[in-house]
Amino acid sequence: MKYFLKHPFKALKAYLPKSMFGRSLLILVLPLVLIEGVAAYVFLDSHWERVAKMLARNIAGEVAAAIDLYTHTPDQEAFYKSLAGTYLKLRMDFVPGEKIQSPIPEEWKDTALDMALKDQVFTPYTFNIQNREILIDAEVAGGVLKFITPLNRLCSKSFFLFIMWVSITSAIFLLIAVAFMHNQVKPLRRLAIAADRFGKGRSFPAFKPEGAIEIRKLTHAFTNMKERLQRQLTQKADMLAGVSHDLRTPLTRMRLQLAMMMPSPEVDGLQKDIEEMNKMLEGYLTFARGEGLEETCETNMNDFLQEAIEGRADLQTVVHYTSHPLPVVYVKPQALKRCVMNLINNATRYGHEVWVKAFTDKDYLIIVVEDDGTGIPDEKIEEVFKPFFRLDSSRNIATGGVGLGLTIARDIAQGHGGDIILSSSVDHGGLKASLVVPY
Ligand SMILES: Nc1ncnc2c1ncn2[C@@H]1O[C@H](COP(=O)(O)OP(=O)(O)OP(=O)(O)O)[C@@H](O)[C@H]1O
Ligand SMILES: [Mg+2]
Repeated sequence: MKYFLKHPFKALKAYLPKSMFGRSLLILVLPLVLIEGVAAYVFLDSHWERVAKMLARNIAGEVAAAIDLYTHTPDQEAFYKSLAGTYLKLRMDFVPGEKIQSPIPEEWKDTALDMALKDQVFTPYTFNIQNREILIDAEVAGGVLKFITPLNRLCSKSFFLFIMWVSITSAIFLLIAVAFMHNQVKPLRRLAIAADRFGKGRSFPAFKPEGAIEIRKLTHAFTNMKERLQRQLTQKADMLAGVSHDLRTPLTRMRLQLAMMMPSPEVDGLQKDIEEMNKMLEGYLTFARGEGLEETCETNMNDFLQEAIEGRADLQTVVHYTSHPLPVVYVKPQALKRCVMNLINNATRYGHEVWVKAFTDKDYLIIVVEDDGTGIPDEKIEEVFKPFFRLDSSRNIATGGVGLGLTIARDIAQGHGGDIILSSSVDHGGLKASLVVPY
């Protein structure tokens, strides 16, 4: 309550619809309902009351006239009866020797009819409403005059007609508005889904711009952006692949020439360098080939992880695997497997034992690879993602790779709309690498 008073708009927000469709509809419906409410209230208050009073006065006037006529010339009772019945919708009866017994029921006291009768009828009277009929008794000399008249004479139909017409037309217009609104929001919703899928590296069917001019522009801008990005990516990958490929031929030639030379420490050193260059080129090629052409498909994550663990380079190192039930996820399986395997290979290379666990949290699939190695110092955590960056600066091929493993792994993770997060493993002392992928 305190919060509500302090931030009324913020508090109100929690109760308002979240979607654009809901909000637009509210903007449309709220004024409509308010206007109708005010109109109905004003109408009810003035018109309805006046009409009710007038109708009651009519009935009371007729009853009073009939009583008057009867008291002055009681011998013409039959004539009055037919007069009242024909012209006044008032059935009339005289019961001689009777007196008024029951008083006016509490619920009808001081109503418009009671007031009108009080104003115009000067003999004791009572009335009641039963079976949609008004029964009025008035005491006259020698007995009681009983009047019966239909209840609908007291009600005006115009109010109900008014409400009915207003409600029906509003409902019809509302339905039309809902249909139009729905059509306006549809392209926006589709665009949001497309953007989401694009962000996660998934394909989506082409769609043509629809809806309001702003939404069309947005769709155009999005499609252009997507095409530009894809063109840029493929261009870069093609170039990288081309360069790596072209360099391999002279390198092979150099290796052959070295092999034919007399063995010496210099030749040995050159051979090692060439070996390393070759490895780097292989790395480049793998990176460039990337996940480019692979399509996303439904992948059973339990099987996927099992395969990734079994496919690791170093089968000597023990890998402990704990899995929670995993969903079927849309991913590029080959690429993602390379990503996970890079993490596992690092862990086996830099640690003695490896722990892999996989679980889901909200809309994310999380795969954690931990080891008991030396880990990575905090200040180097972002640097190890750079291409060819290795903590072991000797770049000794025997102790490790070329330094592209994490670069490729992060590239693949980000291509799926996710990321790789490195930290120190609390449980095992080494590195903790978490792959997070939305699904
Ligand atoms: N689990 C780990 N424990 C300790 N250091 C690690 C771990 N994983 C990576 N590193 C450090 O980060 C550097 C970069 O890793 P990255 O996987 O990119 O390259 P690499 O393993 O050296 O070569 P490759 O391209 O064959 O994977 C490594 O050289 C290593 O120093
Ligand atoms: Mg590696």
